[in-house]
Amino acid sequence: MNDPIAMTLDGRTLTARPGQSVGAALTDAGVRSWRTTRGGQPRGLFCGIGVCFDCLITVDGRPGQRACLVPARAGLVLETAPASPSPDPGHQRRDDRDD
Ligand code: FES
Repeated sequence: MNDPIAMTLDGRTLTARPGQSVGAALTDAGVRSWRTTRGGQPRGLFCGIGVCFDCLITVDGRPGQRACLVPARAGLVLETAPASPSPDPGHQRRDDRDD
């Protein structure tokens, strides 16, 4: 039941532990960023609780998923995300701000 979970990120196989989020698994594997802002700044986990939207990633072809909220599952296909507009027009991501 505690067997490692195999997923891929841009075709590279990564393993996660049961109970980890995708974001935790990526961080555990040494991946610190998986998207960039429109200005080219790297982004990965920041808040870790689904608030900041820094951790957006494509999961099984669905873009704009928050890696910190997606449970790691065997066979997930993860793809790094290019800079894109916020999924919620009323929400201003941290990298959209000047601070
Ligand atoms: S790290 Fe902030 S929403 Fe995922």
